[in-house]
Amino acid sequence: MLSWDQMPNLALMRCCRAWVEIDLAALRHNVQHLLALLQGRTELMAVVKADAYGHGAVMVAQTAIAAGATWLGVATVPEGIELRQAGMTAPILVMGAVNEVEEVRAIAQWHLQPTLVSPKQALIFSETLAPRPGQPVPVHLKLDTGMSRLGFPWQQAQTFVEFVQRLPHLHVASVYSHLATADSPDPTILNQQHQRFEAAIAQLQSADLRPRHLHLANSAATLGHPALHYDRVRAGLALYGLYPAPHLKTAAHLCPVMQVKARITHIKDIEPGTGVSYGHQFVADRPMRIAVVGIGYADGVPRALSNQMQVLIDGRRAQQIGAITMDQMMLDVTAIPNLREGDVVTVLGTSGEDAITADDWAALTDTISWEILCGFKHRLPRIAIGQPLPQPASSQARDRH
Ligand SMILES: Cc1ncc(COP(=O)(O)O)c(C=O)c1O
Repeated sequence: MLSWDQMPNLALMRCCRAWVEIDLAALRHNVQHLLALLQGRTELMAVVKADAYGHGAVMVAQTAIAAGATWLGVATVPEGIELRQAGMTAPILVMGAVNEVEEVRAIAQWHLQPTLVSPKQALIFSETLAPRPGQPVPVHLKLDTGMSRLGFPWQQAQTFVEFVQRLPHLHVASVYSHLATADSPDPTILNQQHQRFEAAIAQLQSADLRPRHLHLANSAATLGHPALHYDRVRAGLALYGLYPAPHLKTAAHLCPVMQVKARITHIKDIEPGTGVSYGHQFVADRPMRIAVVGIGYADGVPRALSNQMQVLIDGRRAQQIGAITMDQMMLDVTAIPNLREGDVVTVLGTSGEDAITADDWAALTDTISWEILCGFKHRLPRIAIGQPLPQPASSQARDRH
């Protein structure tokens, strides 16, 4: 029996009732268009946490690096290890907090680069690394300039940087912060965070502390605020071809990377008055032809979309009817002739001239596109289309970072 990742794409699609297609050509396109926004030496970090927002971390990381990104960003140590085990040699920033001794050891072993958010955490690192000192571990100091999540108070940047610089086994590789409202058309809070970051940098410079790299921008600031690019931008959503907000759509031409497809598993005709699915939330008011499709909420289609969403069949829209169930949903296909069991439906993506996007689903379910993308579960295989995967680079480069 072949495992998912050993199966050729076509065989995978044939034996699946539903799957996620990852268009690596679209991903390359997005990386190149984001790079075109950057000036001079500003680098692009591909944020591939949460399995690359549901796209598959390893293939996204390989493609993004081959297309010109130079850094990878993850949230957790295991996410970084997964990339190293796959042969990725690019520098990897772990953006989440790391406090446990075992995590610190793993960071050093796998040449990951941690985020430090407090002197206490820096001490844990220095003490844990002391018994077997090698090259100093590059660390990235995070300042809280207004997100009120991870980070040391920006007003105390100097104290923090001086403290970490004095510790053995650590090397301050960058100082950074994260924006709370970069996707808002109102720049008030963004400007405040920018000013605070600048004030922190000025404080460091007046004490003759010059961290090698500074970074602040997420996708929204990468697209909309060149003054916030500094030495590196950390782009997630834009990499995957979605815009953080409608007003940012003019900044770059991005293409969605993910499409979700599923097969029609059963077709039947129903009489007027027939209830459909759990709770009979939908009752036919006329003779109808309905199609059962093999995808449901356990795959990542929000149940809240029941009776709200549509799918695409050869460029035509079909309304979803009745409660979405764990593994299946029903469609009204009365107006679509010649359908057969086994036919493929585009649940999310483009078909003909029409498209259904993660933004559409986010608007219908009162959430954000980030959550929609991350919501697709691993029981849907990720199938790369668009180009062959680049070879992982040689493992030698790992020692450089
Ligand atoms: C610290 C940090 N930087 C960058 C990003 C990327 O954000 P986006 O997907 O909006 O580009 C994230 C994602 O949440 C993050 O937590």
